[in-house]
Amino acid sequence: METEPPVAVFNVDGEYFAIDDTCTHDQSSLADGYIDGDVVECAWHFAKFSIRTGVVLSPPATRPVCAYRVQLRGDDVMVDIPQPEEPA
Ligand code: FES
Repeated sequence: METEPPVAVFNVDGEYFAIDDTCTHDQSSLADGYIDGDVVECAWHFAKFSIRTGVVLSPPATRPVCAYRVQLRGDDVMVDIPQPEEPA
């Protein structure tokens, strides 16, 4: 299922996490990156992000990605993506 913004969901030892899929350095998909524990390394220039919080752990990225709340409902992984507020 496609979402806007694109979101990557990770399973870390049975615990699910969701962060923005798009690297803040230069638009690569973090879902295509390399995973080591709860860290994802971008496949393009190797910035590292925390899968748990979205914080940058190593350059060249300098801005975090958003982390989203995840809930399991049966076999479904539900990601809570806040919607932009509608204009008044
Ligand atoms: S696009 Fe991710 S580190 Fe450059």
